[in-house]
Amino acid sequence: RSGVALIPVVVHVVYNGDAANITEAQVDSQIVALNADFNAQNADISEIPTAFKPLLGEARIRFFRVQRDPQGKRHPGITRTRTSIQAFNQNGNQLDQRMKSAAQGGHDAWPSDRYLNIWVCDLGRELLGYAQFPGGPIEKDGVVINHTAFGTTGTSVSPFNLGRTTTHEVAHWLNVYHIWGDDGLACSGSDYCDDTPNQAGSNRGRPQFPHVSCGNGQSGDMFMNFMDYTDDEAMFMFTKGQVARMNATLTGPRSSLIG
Ligand code: ARG
Ligand code: ZN
Ligand code: CA
Repeated sequence: RSGVALIPVVVHVVYNGDAANITEAQVDSQIVALNADFNAQNADISEIPTAFKPLLGEARIRFFRVQRDPQGKRHPGITRTRTSIQAFNQNGNQLDQRMKSAAQGGHDAWPSDRYLNIWVCDLGRELLGYAQFPGGPIEKDGVVINHTAFGTTGTSVSPFNLGRTTTHEVAHWLNVYHIWGDDGLACSGSDYCDDTPNQAGSNRGRPQFPHVSCGNGQSGDMFMNFMDYTDDEAMFMFTKGQVARMNATLTGPRSSLIG
């Protein structure tokens, strides 16, 4: 791929109370954050520890809010649906994905071979967001983000108000895994990237560098990677290996999105 990959985005705002009916400005603040984070144009790349700087990846992906609906009619690229569901909670281990269905109080996905669907709603207190990896059911394809963790203005709340939940989830949607390899606290799981250090488990908050969790060298965990669980202000990089996975997705299972 020589040019920048353009990804058409539709945002489905599903709200019960008016607070969650977020503004267009909040939506656009998220698009701005995505475009910075996926292009290594976020100001905080200056905080990357020296040892990790050479690994910084630049995905060259541009996200834009579409101006037409699937039928070609002019459309703001934001759908708005009032729902009787107060919060889409996790009941047990089963994700409540009713925001993805008009028949169940949400909004249907737009064709996922042409759009990145982003649902923004109230996910309750525990969940910031989640994503569907490539290859899943088309009617559920996309990412879901709690409105309090969406964008950088409006109803977004610190420490998740820099738009990084969406950056993290969109990377999953592009087939990038958690940096600790999803093996609990073991030091054996892989994210299938050669340039991310192995680490024990996820990190939270704002760790201090270096944080060595499992014999992973002087620099230890790359907790400032978008695919850890640190606070928004503590995560600011993808690696080249992670970008290679994104590119494989954009030339493979999601190639129809970039025309
Ligand atoms: N899926 C993760 C969760 O819901 C998202 C973590 C995003 N982290 C962040 N700093 N925004 O917990
Ligand atoms: Zn995740
Ligand atoms: Ca681990």
